[in-house]
Amino acid sequence: MSKIFWIGCFPPSSHSVGDHAQTLAIERLLGEHFSDYEVKRFYRTEAEEFFLEDVKSDDLIFIHSSGDFGDLYKHTGWHEIRKRIIETYPNNRVVQLPVSVCYKSNANFEADKIFFSDKRNLLLLCRSEESTELLRNNFGCRVEFFPDFVFSLKPPKPSGCVRRGTLVVLRSDKESSIRPQLHRRLDRRGVRKPFNLIFNLILKKRIRTRFQSAFICDTQVSEHDITDANREKTIYDRLEFFQRFELVITDRFHGCVFAYLTKTPFEVVSGKIQNKTKVSLAVDYPSYFKGFRELVFSELDASPVSSSKESTILGLIKSRRSIRKWNNSKVESEKISKILEAGVYAPSAANLQATKFKVLSSRKDIKFVCQNTSPWFKNSLPDKAVLVLYDSSSLPREKWTERFVWQDTACAMMNMMLVAESLGLKSCWASVNLNQEKTIKANYGIGKHYVLACMLFLGYSDQKPSLKSRHQGRILERHR
Ligand SMILES: Cc1cc2nc3c(=O)[nH]c(=O)nc-3n(C[C@H](O)[C@H](O)[C@H](O)COP(=O)(O)O)c2cc1C
Repeated sequence: MSKIFWIGCFPPSSHSVGDHAQTLAIERLLGEHFSDYEVKRFYRTEAEEFFLEDVKSDDLIFIHSSGDFGDLYKHTGWHEIRKRIIETYPNNRVVQLPVSVCYKSNANFEADKIFFSDKRNLLLLCRSEESTELLRNNFGCRVEFFPDFVFSLKPPKPSGCVRRGTLVVLRSDKESSIRPQLHRRLDRRGVRKPFNLIFNLILKKRIRTRFQSAFICDTQVSEHDITDANREKTIYDRLEFFQRFELVITDRFHGCVFAYLTKTPFEVVSGKIQNKTKVSLAVDYPSYFKGFRELVFSELDASPVSSSKESTILGLIKSRRSIRKWNNSKVESEKISKILEAGVYAPSAANLQATKFKVLSSRKDIKFVCQNTSPWFKNSLPDKAVLVLYDSSSLPREKWTERFVWQDTACAMMNMMLVAESLGLKSCWASVNLNQEKTIKANYGIGKHYVLACMLFLGYSDQKPSLKSRHQGRILERHR
């Protein structure tokens, strides 16, 4: 059995509830999505023990998520250990679980740009758009936005009691929202703490004047060690505590996440770090997690398309043909991941990214959708079908924008068909009429706001379609 080495979790002596909530969430997600792997977990304090492990080429390495990618917490040495892990295992898939990024020094940033430029097997996940943009534009490795894993936790059941008052969760370390410039200056002189305390007191007094029923307490720091035995209870106690309030005011990232999970309205006291890791109620963070495994195995080459690839793309466009006779070969799941990735990367009107995909694999499902839409397939069924859906609740109010549904899904279909072709697979577009849409959606419990625009059938085929030249005469006019 291959292994997942999961390195860098915070030990029980770290009392940050947010950090431990990540451990809990990641543990659950690995159990759900990677049950075919043996998971070996290492605390930050056990990194040296990890380096003694016999890591095989098929093993995956996951570096724990955190808010300290860069040099903000340079003194802990963790960023250097992270780089050592990445450097030591260049041939293994290494996934840096979602991080927030902060560089204070240009020199450190420049050095990292060089370090990360050739890490072809590294998937670096950032938990804010800003961090993603920064690294994507400067690092050569694959960088993706992915929400903090705590968003995947199932919120506790609503307690039923009436919500009252305001919970104020403020930090008092160097990520504090309070006068960051002053912090830094005082930091250098080594007299930060007392000043920090005074500013904290002033702020708290002001909050109490404005919010009479304010309860000021940094719930995100535990008063006891958090171990495997009490982690779940500690986190769920905190979540239940959030549920008692009408409003949360916080400068903590996980303060916002806990408010989001418990559906408690929240206000952000903007600070140096918090500004970089926004949490928006409008984003459906939990929906990302279903695609986590696909992402881990996706193509990581981040290099831009070269001119030689350009000519290959035209070649693929010309060689693709719809296939309706399939053989029995199975489509490899890695290939499906790449095809879905191509769909996800399609352009979308107003950048709404509302096209969604559902893959069907079982013979029963394939038979069902084929009988409904393409009865002529009968004995020769494709191996996979991708339902291409559009979340119409994302559309703006203007009626004319309804055409985005068809335009966006067509872009995704085309991308997917071309990548299928590049992987030696065959494909066929399947239209879906209104009745068929109703039947298929009902069968899979797909919500009313989704339009089932079409389906993509995928499989292997022994057919050799004729590739005769196509209607160049359709180019009506060309200005020279
Ligand atoms: C919007 C659209 C809907 C289509 N619907 C179907 C369909 O329901 N069943 C099918 O077998 N092919 C379908 N096709 C495939 C076309 O029949 C096919 O693209 C066309 O005959 C040209 O052949 P080629 O794909 O081999 O180039 C569809 C294609 C498009 C673009």
